[in-house]
Amino acid sequence: MTGHVLALDQGTTSTRAIVFDATGTPVAAAQREHEQFLPRAGRVEHDPVEIWTNTEWVLASALAKARIGAGDVTAIGITNQRETAIVWDRRTGRPVYNALVWQDTRTQPLIDRLASDGGSDRFADVTGLPLATYFSASKVAWILDHVPGARAAAEAGDLLFGTPDTWVVWNLTGGIRGGIHITDVTNASRTLLMDLRTLDWSDALLAVWGIPRSMLPAIRSSSEVYGEAHLPGIAARVPVAGILGDQQAATFGQAAFDAGESKNTYGTGNFLLVNTGTEIVRSRHGLITTVAYRCGDEPARYALEGSIAVTGSLVQWLRDNLGIIRRSEEVEALAETVPDAGGAYFVPAFSGLFAPYWRPDARGALVGMTRFVNRAHIARAALESTAFQTRDVIEAVVADTGRALSELRVDGGMTRDDLLMRFQADILGLPVVRPEVVETTALGAAYAAGLATGVWSGRDELRTHWREDVRFEPRMPQDERERRYRLWKKAVSKSLDWVD
Ligand code: G3P
Repeated sequence: MTGHVLALDQGTTSTRAIVFDATGTPVAAAQREHEQFLPRAGRVEHDPVEIWTNTEWVLASALAKARIGAGDVTAIGITNQRETAIVWDRRTGRPVYNALVWQDTRTQPLIDRLASDGGSDRFADVTGLPLATYFSASKVAWILDHVPGARAAAEAGDLLFGTPDTWVVWNLTGGIRGGIHITDVTNASRTLLMDLRTLDWSDALLAVWGIPRSMLPAIRSSSEVYGEAHLPGIAARVPVAGILGDQQAATFGQAAFDAGESKNTYGTGNFLLVNTGTEIVRSRHGLITTVAYRCGDEPARYALEGSIAVTGSLVQWLRDNLGIIRRSEEVEALAETVPDAGGAYFVPAFSGLFAPYWRPDARGALVGMTRFVNRAHIARAALESTAFQTRDVIEAVVADTGRALSELRVDGGMTRDDLLMRFQADILGLPVVRPEVVETTALGAAYAAGLATGVWSGRDELRTHWREDVRFEPRMPQDERERRYRLWKKAVSKSLDWVD
């Protein structure tokens, strides 16, 4: 029974553990949601202690369901919501504040102040990123500036910073009794603190943000043995051997290892990554440059990314804030009751708009409304917004690379929604390809850990695991596709105009 790999996916809304066998097939899973704290407009927080408690629970539950003990697990791989910032006291293991989530926009004044001296691309050459609240640096600075005593403690070397991978690995490997304080290159590339070329923290950037280097984790590759995990209730230790930010993990899980290969993940938000190989490609059309992965001592592979903040979380919003569905899965059935959105367009700019616009001041817009529009049309407009936003980033990819895509490989929970996938193919005019395993995020983390521990011989072997399930071909006539996309762009312009 050896050769199993355990993957932990610490996501924005939940934490999941999945046990994979040596063929990359999931054999057991456990999941637990954590609370979203929304103390005021623009603020999104998580409780890191709840995340850790849920981590222990899902790991133990998945192992129990798989009916294997920790001795039968060759390695653990970690993947995580990226950018979310946690600061804790290394002596007590207690967070000094809730995690500031990637969607949190409270640091906009600090971003504006820095952008006023050099523009919002002033760090793009070094980091690949625009100045935005999305990335970790301003969140760490906010905690140091607003939590009483935090800055002095950080300067005394008592505080640690990490994205959720770092927090989970530190706790899994011993916490205050000697946990390792590490992250991987993909997560580090999301902080606005790492130099993309040297793959090390930039002292110049640390000085700009006022963040002491002693807080920062060591940057490691995405696939190597980092240390050993003490699993809940189990005596044997298991190597922690893979870490990838969740979007990079999904890219790895889709076997998009080489330049030109891409994937689009439909989760809380949507994230399209196009692998650019060992080349650092700069976008001129609103994409960001990020690390795709680095295996051991190999050169890092890079990617262009189109990050969309709100897609799946819009469905949650329909459920929690409007109450027009009771469970997220109901959205497809409701949207199917009408043939189209009845002329309504929904731009979910709840955290401003990310790629390709990067407009923090944009606000959500529901336009084209008439008395005819009912809750089914709104559900449909919400689903369609995911497809339109994806077209926005694909237009940017084509403009940047000068090459049209031949198909779009998709993954993530929302891709089970056939209505959305059909509409996606229609609005792109491209085939949309859904693989057999759509949980590619956890799979990618398992692959990284399994590669480092000999479960798999190399990336060529992993490629043979990938299997197409459904191919959605575009059916919408060209003029209708372009008419709808034109109206979408008009709706976006309303959202961009909405300045207080
Ligand atoms: O950059 C944010 C991203 O990593 C969050 O992913 O799947 O938790 O919505 P997800």
